[in-house]
Formats: sequence, structure tokens, C-alpha cells
Amino acid sequence: MKQSVLKYTILIALIIGGLFSFKNIGNDDLTSKTTSASNETLDLVVSFKDTGIKIQPTMYGIFFEDINFAADGGLYAEMIKNRSFEFELPMMGWIEPNSSRHSLNKQSGIATIITTAANTANPNFSRVLVNNDKGYALINEGFRGMGIKKDARYNLSLKAANHDGAIKKIRVQFIDKDNHVLGETSIDPKGTDWQNYTTQLTATQTEAKAQVKITFEGNGTIDLDMISLFPEDTWKGRKNGLRKDLVQLLDDMNPGFLRFPGGCIVEGRTLEQRYQWKKTVGDPENRTTLINRWNTEFSHKLAPDYFQSFGLGFFEYFLLSEDMGAEPLPILSCGIACQFNTGELVPMHELEPYVQDALDLIEFANGASDTPWGKIRTEMGHPKPFNLKYIGVGNEQWGPQYIERYKVFEKAIKDKDPNIIIISGSGPFPEGEYFDYGWEELKKLNVEIIDEHYYKDPKWFRENATRYDNYDRKGPKVFAGEYAAHPKDVADGPKENNWEAALSEAAFMTGLERNADIVHLTSYAPLIAHIDAFQWAPDMIWFNNLESYGTPNYYVQKLFATNRGTDLIAITKDGKPVTGQNDLFASAVNDIDKKEVIIKLVNTAANAQDLNINLKGKQLVSKGVALTLKSEDLADENSFKSPKNISPKESAVKLKGGNLHINIPAYSVTVLIFKIK
Ligand code: AHR
Repeated sequence: MKQSVLKYTILIALIIGGLFSFKNIGNDDLTSKTTSASNETLDLVVSFKDTGIKIQPTMYGIFFEDINFAADGGLYAEMIKNRSFEFELPMMGWIEPNSSRHSLNKQSGIATIITTAANTANPNFSRVLVNNDKGYALINEGFRGMGIKKDARYNLSLKAANHDGAIKKIRVQFIDKDNHVLGETSIDPKGTDWQNYTTQLTATQTEAKAQVKITFEGNGTIDLDMISLFPEDTWKGRKNGLRKDLVQLLDDMNPGFLRFPGGCIVEGRTLEQRYQWKKTVGDPENRTTLINRWNTEFSHKLAPDYFQSFGLGFFEYFLLSEDMGAEPLPILSCGIACQFNTGELVPMHELEPYVQDALDLIEFANGASDTPWGKIRTEMGHPKPFNLKYIGVGNEQWGPQYIERYKVFEKAIKDKDPNIIIISGSGPFPEGEYFDYGWEELKKLNVEIIDEHYYKDPKWFRENATRYDNYDRKGPKVFAGEYAAHPKDVADGPKENNWEAALSEAAFMTGLERNADIVHLTSYAPLIAHIDAFQWAPDMIWFNNLESYGTPNYYVQKLFATNRGTDLIAITKDGKPVTGQNDLFASAVNDIDKKEVIIKLVNTAANAQDLNINLKGKQLVSKGVALTLKSEDLADENSFKSPKNISPKESAVKLKGGNLHINIPAYSVTVLIFKIK
């Protein structure tokens, strides 16, 4: 059974006594269509009359959560797993090739773990005893191996205390599965007290599953901590930074915001395991490692080696937002652990530290350098404020306990800074009891923006392109904070990112855009997934230790985001919005900055369709551009072998007398762009 079906099913069954799966499995799919929508030419009309509706700069953003090894082992370019020996099993990730713990005589040495009370954030270190002149080695297996590229350089750092000076040399080597050395360097550990050492290795081969072997030469004891390895070539060349190819894919989307750090990870399976941003800033060495909630979430996808080093913490998220020109959008725990897990509640009289975290976050992001938290940001190298405008309170919470806690947060945040826009949540489902209750109560409170989540089958997305047409125009705005079409009966993994799912999302997104007065922010979820270590599919981007690619869903998101426009205009057929008539969906915008009119057309029919689009209301340059995303096979996907199988192709289009006659392919998304004279 797929994890997203399995997900929460048992718990929900227990909670509401029903058998309803996390996914809504529909029974109609596009592949069952045999006939064409129509053979006639369809007449569409674009009206340039001002609708007064702005497309928010935040309309298309990204959702980041450390699921599927998205942070450690993914975006955060650290290559050593369990670098500070803080996993529950402190030697996890480390292999001792020459020793047998059961036969002392054969040992060339032994590594033990010392836990100090003095260092509360990073209590463990490894004590290595070498008793054989040939040396004793530790191998780190990386995150399902380490990706190294021929001639690329890698920075290794570690802390060591060589007590009696007995260890003469630390040899560091890349090795492959057959123990071939693929690059090496060494450290001369001179200091008897704790000292930082750095060195650099150059890879002699490209290898996706390399490991690092660290050999200690001498006879005696050495203590080790924070053994770390990063590629030199990171995003923006930042030392110990982020994986360049992955950030590039995100940056290319021109995202309007970055939501972080999730997702359920915000809430934790227990309150103790919730995400606490204060423990993720400052010196990485002092960021306390925490089990990742996805480590144990799915029994058929256990990831016992999934922990959070928080090397990618709140400062790095803010910096990444800034790099991409995206609004930072942190989501904070509201004092309720994941209600699909323990649902632990902090008593109201003990809520204060949670609220204080939100207030201090405003200071960390926006405060002057002489404020306590502004000072920490400054010391981390960013005196300039991050200009935080949004805070989310809770992730997928539901029920009166959420509303009760939300109110306290809202008051405190607005008292501190009335300009902060607060995002509240309507629970995990896009309809039903929790959703209705949440909306009703939040509406009474006159909240600003409500987060909605939908993981549904593709058909649901096509059928819900009109979802927001009847929302109260005077009510709260919507943040479609997590959504993805989950195709049914498809193998778990990248195949879930098939063209049918992406096409259906595109159809739905025309509805988001047509309702831009209500829908202010949207993001696909989850964002990125390691092919050898994922817990959840579909995902927008897949990666291994060397490569990454955008799925068809990625290209849909990118097409919409990079052609967002600034002002909504109308496109109609027979005077009505195009919401699935003849299997066609459409939206249109002006971009007043770029002086463009942009039309998005989604053809979910099994055949090409002839359109006649009337654009007579505006003086346009007759030569335009069409960006087309298509595949005749709905099961088609992108892959490491064929990463751009489904990706936009550009062609020229031409207006004649203010009309565009165009034939749009079967199963396609087309974005038309014309310059305004
Ligand atoms: O996106 C994966 C998970 O789905 C998120 O953590 C959670 O918010 C939702 O249930």
C-alpha cells in the first residue's frame, strides 16, 4: 500500500471511527477518455477590462520540509551522516572496517562514545583508541553514499584532541565500494587539547556512492567531534552551504515565498520533538540534533538514520528566501503535537514560551542589531533585517484547542507588530468536519489568511478548478499551502509524478489564478525527495547524490510562477469562465511591469483542439510566444535518464486582426505571451 494512503489511516480510523484514507481515490481518470472533447473551433474572448484584482507577488511559492532527506542528505550539502555522534545510536553511519568488537585481540582499535554533561547541545564525542601501528579506520557511509565529482574539491573539517600526541597522522580518503581510493589527504593532529582542523580532498573519479575513510596512524587515544565534509562548490560558493543544483532548480521558479520548516515537522510527533527554531540558529556545532519525525512515521518506510542536524536552520532559511527574492514564511508550533500522532497539548497556562518563540522570531528576523535576537542574526553575518512579513501559527491543527491557542498567538503577535500577517490553518483536509469548523471559527475571528491542504486524486483537481469561485469575497484570504495530485494505482516513487497529475494540477491552478482576489499564496508539496531515502511521493523534485531533476509538476509550477503577471483579466467562452467546458481550462493576466498579456490554457482532452482567441481589446505586438508542456501519454514522467522529457518548448505564434488561431495539443499546458504596445 502506498504510504500516503496508509498515512494516518489507522489513526484517523481510531479518531473518527471511520475508514477514510488520507487520499481521496476517485474512480474516473483521463486515460478512460476515448472521445475527443469536440472537433469544432472553440471561440474564446479575452477582456482587458480592469477587474481590479491583483495577482499577489506571493501567488506561487515553495514549501520546504525536511521529509525525504530534503535537508540533511539533500539541500544541506553536508556529506557526513551523524557528524557529531548525536544520533540515538551514536555510532550510526560509522563503520569500523578492521575491528571486531567481539574479539579484542584482532582489533586495531576501538571507537567509544563519551557523553559529557557540560555540553548540553552536543554532548557526545568519539574516543578512538588505536592499538596497532598499521592504524585504525572509521568509515562514514554518507547519506546513502556520497556523491563526488571528478576534479571537484571537498572541504573536510573536524575537531580533535590528541591527548598524548600519540596519533601521528589522520589520513582521509574517498573510497568506492571496492575500497579503491578516489582521492586523499591527511591531517597532522598536533594539538593535545580540542582543536579545529581543516583539509581539502580532490576527487579523482565521479562516484555516486563513495564513502569517506578516516585512518588514524599511531598508538594511543584521540578524541573526535564534528567531522564534516562539504563540496567546495555550493550555492553562491558559501562555505558549508547548500547544494547548488537543488537551489538552482528552486531559484529558477522565481518563487514568491519560501514556507519553512514544514509541514508536520513543525508540530513533532510529541511536543518535545516539535521544531524549535531557537535551537537551529548560531554555531552549527551547538544546534542540538533531533530525531526526524519521518524516521518512524511509516512502518513500511522506516528511516532509522533520519535525524535533523539543523545545519539548515532558520538563519539559512531566511538567507535562502532572500537569495531567491522570496518572502520568508515560517510556520511555528502552536503548542499542539501532530494530531495524527500523540496530539499532545500544552496547557493554556504553559503556552507562554511557545508564544514567546513567535515574538522572538520577529526580533530575530527584523530587530535591530542591538536587540538580543537581532544581535544573534548580526553575529551570524546578517546585520540587515530579513523583513519578515508573515508568520504561520500551527500546521494541520484542528478543533477548539487550536482556536483557543491561535487566539493567544494572534493577540501577542499583533501587539508586538501589527504589520505581521498571520496565517492560520484549517486542518489536514480540504473539506469535512475539521475544515468546516476551522473556517467557521477563524472567520468569526476575522483572520487574515487561512492555510488549506489538499492531497487528492487528479480528477479531484480537475473538478475543483471552480473551488474558490463561490468563496466569500469579504472573508479571509487563502493560502493553498500544501497540495499535490496523487495518481491512484501508480508505483510509489517518481512514477507518481506522472503527466496526468501535473496536467490536472495545471487545470486546477487556472482556478487559483482566476480567484486571485481570494487566493494569495499557493505551494505544491512536498518539494524535494532523495530517490534512495524518500518517505512520501509524489514530490516536485527528485535527486540522488549527484543529480536532480524537475518533474512535470515542477514545470507546471515553474510555468505559472514565472508567468504570474500582476493583474487578473478575464478569458471566457460563451461569456463564462473556462473551467472545463470541452475539457479546457484557462486563465489570463496582464503583467503591467513587463507590458505583457499572458494566457494559460490547459487542454485535458485526448485530442488537439482548435481555438480562436479574440484579443482585440488591446493593441498587442502581433508576434507572440507559446510555451507548451505536453505528452500524449498521461503515464509519462521525467527521470534521471530523461530529466526534461516533459518540459516547456517554445514556439512562435501570430495574431491576425487581433485574433489568435491556434491548435493546442492533446493533454497540454500552453502559456501564450504577447507584448502590449
Ligand atoms: O507534505 C507532507 C505532509 O503532508 C506535511 O508534513 C503535512 O503538513 C501534510 O500532512
